[in-house]
Amino acid sequence: MAEVIVLETPAEAGAFVAAHIAAQVRREPTFTLGVATGSTPLPVYEGLRAERDTGTDFTRMSAFALDEYVGLPAGHPESYRAVVDREVTGPLGLDPARVRVPDGSAEGIETAGERYEAAIEAHGGVDLQLLGIGRTGHLGFNEPGSSFGSLTRVKTLTERTRLDNARFFDSLDEVPIHCVTQGLGTILRARHLVLLAFGEGKAEALAAAVEGPVSASMPGSAIQLHQRVTVVVDEAAASQL
Ligand code: GLP
Repeated sequence: MAEVIVLETPAEAGAFVAAHIAAQVRREPTFTLGVATGSTPLPVYEGLRAERDTGTDFTRMSAFALDEYVGLPAGHPESYRAVVDREVTGPLGLDPARVRVPDGSAEGIETAGERYEAAIEAHGGVDLQLLGIGRTGHLGFNEPGSSFGSLTRVKTLTERTRLDNARFFDSLDEVPIHCVTQGLGTILRARHLVLLAFGEGKAEALAAAVEGPVSASMPGSAIQLHQRVTVVVDEAAASQL
């Protein structure tokens, strides 16, 4: 079973995970971090900025994002490229050439998945993948029904996920309908998975992912197939474990 660490607040959890990443980066400056978006990983990024302030040099680190919306205009502040650049690339001083996000532009869409897989492979994979979990149980944008062997590809967002993510946009109509997401098979290739969840709203999905049956109807349960998983949660998210 995954190692489960329950901390009091998201800020403590973020600092804890950031300290672990920073220690790895000090040992191995070319460390590769798998970055996630949504609100859950933000305390980790805040923690990484604090580690930078106390002297950890992240400038040689590489990053791969989990997913991207399809069809947002270039530079849209809620595109995951923009979020990763704002939260990670800029503040930590990463080389933008070493920060990859799937290509969600309409023109690139047919080959986006293949190109992203090739980039991860050519790079030598991801050392530590940060993960949030959606209330549907999704990892990245792998909604229920996604194959555990799936690779990066275009998917359709569920209505529930679009409604959940509408808070980042001015209206539901603005939330894209499609995305490009790493597959569950891609995620499982990372050498260490760190799943984060905060708040009561995640308790049910978290318990199903960590302790429930391994099933394609609960994408989060794919973590049970991985050798090295750390689950870092607050007390509210842990309440159904
Ligand atoms: C988003 C992302 C996921 C994220 C999840 C939870 O839509 N694609 O990578 O883990 O949904 O979002 P939040 O952390 O905001 O609850």
